[in-house]
Amino acid sequence: MARILTGIQSSGSNGEVHLGNILGAIVPGIELSKKAENEAYFFIADLHSLTTVKDAAIRAQNVRAVAAAWLAFGFDTDKNVFYRQSDVPEVCELTWYLSCFTPFPMLANAHSFKDKSNNLADVNAGLFNYPVLMACDILLYDANYVPVGKDQKQHLEMTRDIANSFNHKYGETFVVPEPMIDERVMVVPGTDGRKMSKSYDNYLNIFLPEKALRKSVMRIETDSTPLEEPKDPDSCNVFALYSLLANKEQIAEMRNNYTAGNYGYGHAKQALFELILDKYAEQRKFYDVLMSSPEEIDAKLLLGAKKASDTARPVLNKVRKKLGFRT
Ligand code: ADP
Ligand code: TRP
Repeated sequence: MARILTGIQSSGSNGEVHLGNILGAIVPGIELSKKAENEAYFFIADLHSLTTVKDAAIRAQNVRAVAAAWLAFGFDTDKNVFYRQSDVPEVCELTWYLSCFTPFPMLANAHSFKDKSNNLADVNAGLFNYPVLMACDILLYDANYVPVGKDQKQHLEMTRDIANSFNHKYGETFVVPEPMIDERVMVVPGTDGRKMSKSYDNYLNIFLPEKALRKSVMRIETDSTPLEEPKDPDSCNVFALYSLLANKEQIAEMRNNYTAGNYGYGHAKQALFELILDKYAEQRKFYDVLMSSPEEIDAKLLLGAKKASDTARPVLNKVRKKLGFRT
């Protein structure tokens, strides 16, 4: 059995989960978790989000929204382990231990830190230490494989370095994890054609109520080709998004409409809107049910935390023992 583990940040200012997160992380993650040979540990990285989100109510809402999205897409929490990072505080203890073995320059060279370090007054020590906490998320649970986006590659290399050097000093202690970076995972474009991201405010949240969802679809940027004229599907954001969700026949039909003319971007957006409602009807319904009963989400996360603790405890004890602390 291979243990695959990944963390999903609950960042953002209003708990939004967008189509990029769903097609780029949630759907492929669930596919992996379904394989009989895998056991998935998926958690919501709320301690990491404290580096940026200070408001407790917003953080709690983000955690719920992210959890509800995973559950709405069918993540099986009986077969797998689904938990909130902060519910297993052992990870903070391990973070201290491994911080004491992490060379300062390694952290100073992290892209995630360097990107922000021209404005050091805004940088907190948590952000600096972010990669150690992430390494501990992984090492505490003996994870074998860590599916992540390309942007996390360096963090995985640091995790492996930290684990290898500890193992070298104290004998086999940690499982050294392998990153799983799927180069084929699509980059979902946002409403402005750049990568869809919370930071660009160009995202589609497929869980919005109908009216608000329609409004955000209508916001997709297009050029000003008049309605009557033929249009180029391959340079259009609406067509790109539609193609990610539609089946072959639907895509061919929309391509024809574009090239034939007398088909406006408004028509294409309406078709995309209706496709989202149709394709994700079940998930949207389930999401609303979950979001209206936060106790249920919480209960699931706590159950997951219990299972996660059972895995974490012996690993932490092994480390305490090697470092000469009482167990
Ligand atoms: P954001 O850029 O909105 O803050 P995150 O960095 O929190 O998104 O990403 C969470 C997960 O969703 C990651 O695994 C990331 O690779 C995936 N993801 C985010 N945006 C996209 C996108 N536009 N296309 C594909 N995957 C994405
Ligand atoms: N840093 C990751 C991100 O921003 C989230 C994360 C935290 C994570 N801990 C992790 C991912 C452990 C994989 C394993 O996407």
